[in-house]
Parts: sequence; structure tokens; C-alpha cells
Amino acid sequence: MDTALQLPSTALYAKSIEASKRVRWDIDRDVIRGRTFDFSRKFLPDALARIQNFAFATPEEKRFISQIQGRTYANMFAMVERAIGGKLVQLQAPHALGDQVVFESLVRFTDEELKHQELFRRLEKLMAAGMPAGYAFVPSPNEVATAVLSKSSWAVLGLTCNIELFTLDHYRQSIDKDPDASELWKDVFLFHMKEESQHAILDELEWQRENAQLNAAQRDAAVNDLIALVAAVDGILHVQSAADAEYFAKNCGRALKAPEEQALRTGLLRAYRWQYIASGTKNERFMSILGAMLTPEQMQRVVKALAPILDDAGALQ
Ligand SMILES: [Fe+2]
Ligand SMILES: [Fe+2]
Repeated sequence: MDTALQLPSTALYAKSIEASKRVRWDIDRDVIRGRTFDFSRKFLPDALARIQNFAFATPEEKRFISQIQGRTYANMFAMVERAIGGKLVQLQAPHALGDQVVFESLVRFTDEELKHQELFRRLEKLMAAGMPAGYAFVPSPNEVATAVLSKSSWAVLGLTCNIELFTLDHYRQSIDKDPDASELWKDVFLFHMKEESQHAILDELEWQRENAQLNAAQRDAAVNDLIALVAAVDGILHVQSAADAEYFAKNCGRALKAPEEQALRTGLLRAYRWQYIASGTKNERFMSILGAMLTPEQMQRVVKALAPILDDAGALQ
């Protein structure tokens, strides 16, 4: 393969700057617009919350489950965006005195992720104001970001590309006409998607740039790093789904029976596995970028590592 032909051109980065200027939004003026959350509405759409897995719950309880998941969604994104920001600073530095178009596109990308972090922190505060005390987001964003950044750039870019692409899928799942869905949350999905779709293009360019610099042995090690990153994400999902199950059980207003509590725990882990791992692997764009970089054996390794998670999330049906 002649990698020189595959290298991204400055023109593609210039286009991303143009698009970034065109879609740019403001947290207060465009997204929040002075609103607070309506707690009689669901936060995450049913498809994303995998609400079919909570058959034991009453309609009110299902709504509470979707609100807890929405709160965790905001915290999860604020956390991954911190790691992405850290990676972007590393990627930008070599361009500071070089191609100023590439430099600007990556600086804008970083600025937008900082804004997204602020948006999700603001949402967390608004949700906390109307929910019972005791919710805890367990992972430490800085510890997680440090662990992520210790892996190879290729793997971090792969994970980032996956995250930004699945944000677009999450938006598509939010546009169903559900009268019980929160209008503010719908806008969060919409506006986040607008900038993430630009980021996904830059991720792809940077991932391919990094890929072209690796020899076969380095790429093979990077594949193992990517698998390790997905396993680390899965570890986080285990911990957070358990914390969220406990929060629900304490605040749902009745004593759950043992099988209900089990279904709650399983349902939350499956929902989070769907949101943060499985929905990305369903993304055709992501799988085709990844597939073009890997040997069939490496692809098999990735598929084998993911299979138990995807199966549990219901993504293999
Ligand atoms: Fe973002
Ligand atoms: Fe992004």
C-alpha cells in the first residue's frame, strides 16, 4: 500500500475549520436558553437507555432510570472529553510552528471539547437540583484520562474516533417523536452532534496520519492497546452501573425484590455497554476505517475481545 497517497491534505483540515465556524454554538444562547430540566420527562431516549431491559419497572420508575442514565451520560462525556482534550494538546504541539491550518483545526477542536465539558458540567448541576441526593459518579476523570493517555496515540485516536462517531448515532436515536422526552436533552444531542461530526472527520485524518507512521510491529502493539482501552471502559461501566443501581434502589420509593434488583443491575450494565461500546461498533464508518488499517488476524483479535460485551449488550442479534 502506498501510504503517501493516503495521507490527508491541508485542504481537508481547512474544510473542517470552515465547518467548525459554521456550526459553532453557544451553551447559553443555543442549548440551555435559560431552561431547567422537566423531571416529568425522560432524559435519554428509550432506544439508548435500552428501556426494554427494565420490564420489572413501572412507567414512573422507567422515567427515573432514564434520568439516572442521562446524568451518567453527562458525566461520562465530561470525562472522556477531558482525555480527548489531553490527547489533542499532544497532537497540536508538533504543528505549532508548522502547518498553521492543521494547527488551527486542532486548536478549535480542543476549544470545542472544553466547551462540551462545560456544557456537561452545567447539565450535571441542573440534574442534581431536581434529583434525590446520593448520586455518585465514581470514576475520577483525571485518573481515567492519565490511564488513557499512557496508551499509544493510534489506540487513543481509534477510541476517540469511535466515541465521536457514536455520538452521531446517539443523536439519531434521540429524534424519535417521543412526547415524554426532555426537550433540553434533545437539544443537547442535536448541538453536541453538530460539532462531533466535524471532530469525527479530524479524528479520522489524525488516526490515518498516525497509522501511516507505524511499522507492522508497532501497529500490532497498538491493536492490543485499543483492546485494553475498551476493556478499561468496560471496567468503568461495571463500577458506574453498580453505583447507579444502588442509587435507584435507594430512591425508587419501594423495596425491590431480589430478581428486580438483579434485572436492574444487568439492565444498567447492558445499557451502558450499548451506549459506550456497542453503538460504536455498529457504526459502519468506524468499522471500515478500522478494517482498512488492520490485517484480518488483527481484526479477528478485536472482534474476539469485543464479542462477550457486544453479546451482553444485545448488539449481536
Ligand atoms: Fe464533545
Ligand atoms: Fe468531540
